[in-house]
Amino acid sequence: MSEIAREVVPVHTASRDYDVIVGTRLLDEVGDRMRAALAADAAFVVSDNNVAPLYLERVEASLRMAGFAVASTIVEAGESHKNLTTFGAILEDMASAGLTRDSIVVALGGGVVGDMAGFAAASYMRGIRVVQVPTSLLSMVDSSVGGKTAIDLSRGKNLIGAFLQPSLVIADVDCLSTLSPYAFVDGIGEVVKHGVLADEQLFDELAAHPLAQDGDPAQLARIIARNVAIKRDVVGADEKERGVRQTLNLGHTIGHAFEAASGYALGHGHCVAAGLCHVARASEHLGWSEPGTSDRIERCVAAQGLPTSCDIPLDDVIAQASHDKKRHGAGVNLVVPTRIGAVTMRHVSLDELATLIREGARSPRP
Ligand code: GLY
Repeated sequence: MSEIAREVVPVHTASRDYDVIVGTRLLDEVGDRMRAALAADAAFVVSDNNVAPLYLERVEASLRMAGFAVASTIVEAGESHKNLTTFGAILEDMASAGLTRDSIVVALGGGVVGDMAGFAAASYMRGIRVVQVPTSLLSMVDSSVGGKTAIDLSRGKNLIGAFLQPSLVIADVDCLSTLSPYAFVDGIGEVVKHGVLADEQLFDELAAHPLAQDGDPAQLARIIARNVAIKRDVVGADEKERGVRQTLNLGHTIGHAFEAASGYALGHGHCVAAGLCHVARASEHLGWSEPGTSDRIERCVAAQGLPTSCDIPLDDVIAQASHDKKRHGAGVNLVVPTRIGAVTMRHVSLDELATLIREGARSPRP
């Protein structure tokens, strides 16, 4: 049996301080870790019908052993269920379980579960605490940290939500072994993004040694913790996305457009990777990025098994990007890499964005 790996990343934000614990064999410690960090009467676990059969029993047992009263609800898996109906059902189940202001919601699953359970916690009795137990790579390196919670409306993704920093995050890398290969690779999109954003060393390591699902768990834990630390530094400086947190949207303006134009058939991380390559090609053409930056990004993205472009009609991509909910006035704040490890934000008009999207579509690496 491999050695136990443990990394702890402390997060400091204006609204709450908490630890992100990343490692192996952590699921059976969820109860003890929560008991050590938080006083609470009951724990209410939200999971989905993919994750619950694999891990819910272990987490419930661990919570009971630590002295929590435990109740759970299981929602249908998938973004198409991240809606008002499911949200309402979670809240009704929380009320039926008799949760109080001293109870804690435990989000056991990927980004969709984390978003919904977090928003339910933010809403119930005007806000109770949430512990995130992410089980996908995407949620470990990104969505479980930083406090964004949301559900979708028929007119768009994440249109209602709240900022609620978790009280604790417990990421057991052993859970990654049960992801589909597509879902694992999907998470790497955000890992590459973090390297381009803030860490050339991480980027070079990824380019030389693409992340592998069956890789050394201690190594995976170290890389996930590094990603959490990058995000922590940004969120700690700007919890509510008024300024520097917008840089985390690197690759997302065009990536979201790919996602929406594909009818959400493509994974978020795949679209972020393609969006990152797209904006890097355009940015380098405009002289905003150091020469060679886009080539390095494309090579790294391709090495992970992620796409460097997206086969969607440009007019559709431009139409989607123009409706991005993160529009600022008559344009968008576009994040561009100046080199590997550094980014800048440029306000571009929608016309400039359209030109840029056309430019970025030229000569992608096959
Ligand atoms: N995923 C970007 C953010 O949390 O701000």
